[in-house]
Amino acid sequence: MTKVSGEDLGNRFGTRAVHAGKIPDPLAGAVMTPIYQTSTYIQEGLGRHKGYEYARTRNPTREALERNVAALEGGRHGFAFGSGLAALDAVLKLLSQGDHVVSGENLYGGSHRQMTHVWARLGLEFTFVDAADAGELAAAVTPRTRMIYAETPTNPMMRLCDLAAAGETARRAQALFVVDNTFATPYFQRPLEFGADVVLHSTTKYLNGHSDMVGGLLVTGRDDLAERLGFLQNAVGAVPGPFDCWLASGSPGIRKWSGCIIRACRRTHSTSWRAAR
Ligand SMILES: Cc1ncc(COP(=O)(O)O)c(C=O)c1O
Repeated sequence: MTKVSGEDLGNRFGTRAVHAGKIPDPLAGAVMTPIYQTSTYIQEGLGRHKGYEYARTRNPTREALERNVAALEGGRHGFAFGSGLAALDAVLKLLSQGDHVVSGENLYGGSHRQMTHVWARLGLEFTFVDAADAGELAAAVTPRTRMIYAETPTNPMMRLCDLAAAGETARRAQALFVVDNTFATPYFQRPLEFGADVVLHSTTKYLNGHSDMVGGLLVTGRDDLAERLGFLQNAVGAVPGPFDCWLASGSPGIRKWSGCIIRACRRTHSTSWRAAR
């Protein structure tokens, strides 16, 4: 289970984007986590190792990405997957047969397909509502509701959900609140601050920013959920390879993307400021 360091959470967004999660390589001291392209790790004896046994369970390059995105979202734990839909699969595996999910109706088509063609067959029940309407969302809750799922803004219609209201509905129903933050990115929106239990990303999109990998990520601030998600990540095994993790979090991905977005926002801000004067 990957946990962010308190030091990373103390830094501002730009510093987190560049440095959070990176641990200098113990072999040569490389300041940026290298690509650990390995399936397994040497053991000095039976069960005597440096904490890394097998790369489905733990890989330092994957952990650098997980800690990085978790720090950007203001969470404590991150879990990387082979795609955004694999991350959705893992989060829905927190539920059991017969559980009910209230979800925004305007979702990425692949997420809707997985819910209705995979999970509904296996015994989860879904009610799709206009997540922009807080009243409609609250009215759809039943005694069996165990999750409220919101994608905001949605792909492709850019529909929005009031995260604070949806988070409050989830809290009252004692249901998990899961938010797909792919389109907003943690620079513009941090759902954990509005009561989300888990944040989902397709890192394929803005976080990577270069269309050269496919990946997904879950972030939580809750230790109990992290325990369960870590178990599922290893037990199911839909993990990304280290090269894709490096593409997402290293120089080509979040480090570059964040610099661009911060500069673009500052420029827009100072231009509007000048125009207003
Ligand atoms: C908002 C959103 N969530 C999830 C996904 C699924 O991600 P992936 O394509 O990485 O499986 C996508 C893909 O377009 C998306 O746009």
